[in-house]
Amino acid sequence: MKFQHSLLIQLLIIIIMFINNVKCWNDCEVSISQLRGSVPLYVKEVQGNGSFWVYEPSDGFIVLRKGEQITLICPTPNKDVNANYGLATCEGNNMFNFDGKSLQLRDVTCPHGFPKPIAKITGRCSGNGLKIDVGFQLGDNYLLKQITVCYNNETKVPLYAHFSMKNSVCCCATGTSKWIDKGTFGNAQIPLTSVYEIGSEKRTLNRMFGIESKSNKFISSPSRYFTKGRLVDKCDFSFPAQQRMTNNYYNTVPQWQPFSNGNWRILQENIRDYLRRSKNKYKELHVYTGTYGIAKYEAAWRTSADLALFMNNSGRKAVLIPEYLWKIVHDPMSNRGIAFVMFNNPYVEETVKLCTNICAKLSWLTWDTNRKDKGYGYCCSVDDIKKRIRNIPPITVSGILH
Ligand SMILES: *[C@@H]1O[C@H](CO)[C@@H](O)[C@H](O)[C@H]1NC(C)=O
Ligand SMILES: *[C@@H]1O[C@H](CO)[C@@H](O)[C@H](O)[C@H]1NC(C)=O
Ligand SMILES: *[C@@H]1O[C@H](CO)[C@@H](O)[C@H](O)[C@H]1NC(C)=O
Repeated sequence: MKFQHSLLIQLLIIIIMFINNVKCWNDCEVSISQLRGSVPLYVKEVQGNGSFWVYEPSDGFIVLRKGEQITLICPTPNKDVNANYGLATCEGNNMFNFDGKSLQLRDVTCPHGFPKPIAKITGRCSGNGLKIDVGFQLGDNYLLKQITVCYNNETKVPLYAHFSMKNSVCCCATGTSKWIDKGTFGNAQIPLTSVYEIGSEKRTLNRMFGIESKSNKFISSPSRYFTKGRLVDKCDFSFPAQQRMTNNYYNTVPQWQPFSNGNWRILQENIRDYLRRSKNKYKELHVYTGTYGIAKYEAAWRTSADLALFMNNSGRKAVLIPEYLWKIVHDPMSNRGIAFVMFNNPYVEETVKLCTNICAKLSWLTWDTNRKDKGYGYCCSVDDIKKRIRNIPPITVSGILH
């Protein structure tokens, strides 16, 4: 009896191993964190109607059945346009057929570098703002839109950026990559790359305060400086091409480094985790991130001038430093929303709140707002903050997302 029992178990184990192997032979599973260098943008085509979407990973992997195909998008040389580089077909056993060869997907890279994002002015927003769509141009006529920005082209400050976060979001790459200031991103006519260098920040701000150019009073290493703070975070997208796309100046504002790397970063992670905890893999969140007010620092510095990272010889300022950053998260399925406001200054105590704080209703926030040196933040109802911040786009919600 005992003998038969163990024989049965052994048999079962063999069967399970066999099934597992068959699954493996028939599937292609590609770990997204192994995709490095100038890998293409992976898209799926809606059969017949000519539209595309970026492939949505499952648990950090591209998973295709044997015979299933994925479209690879690569840049066209010397243009801000991308093209269909071909289809990769899953052969099973994690191998793909591409261009007649049998390969691993991560070994198929674009011959002319990374897929190129583009910025297209598509209208107006918030009065004088430029509505700018950021995404990937496929051929001459199709824009695979990823982020919409409302941008003040006079001050070179984005009012807000908007995108749709997917439940599948994963795989944030470590390391830094270059900011894009060429092509359609490069017509600001001020040196956006160099205004964010610590030496330049120091010279510009000291000039505004009328203090000695080399003084460390306001800006100093290792952490008293403004970093290039993205509105839509790099880690809010899954693939290398999308993450690189967030490194553009339409999506960037000066953020104090301890704020950016402190509670603001935690808030971004909390929102992603909140979405990923949903069992519904089609769930998405509409996330709006924006700026409000201009930093002045009158109490500490006895000046009420607007602070900026750029000032020309006639005193014209650009890349103004926002006083606050805000985020609104809207769940389109339940039509619930929540707003967050953070004070972009870890060195001065903030006393006024722009709304009634309702953070107590949320169980998923892990930021430490007692640490004002890491950025002071609180939660608002969407209706409450809309009354205060006028450039918030028309978002209507029917309850609090918590
Ligand atoms: C194509 O089909 C998708 C999914 O059915 C739909 O969301 C999209 O709007 C369609 N696009 C066009 C151009 O008809
Ligand atoms: C934006 O401002 C720059 C100058 O900083 C100017 O050259 C450009 O034409 C402006 N773009 C639009 C669409 O107004
Ligand atoms: C400063 O900027 C203003 C507004 O764009 C421009 O009219 C002026 O010529 C600039 N001055 C210098 C010295 O660049």
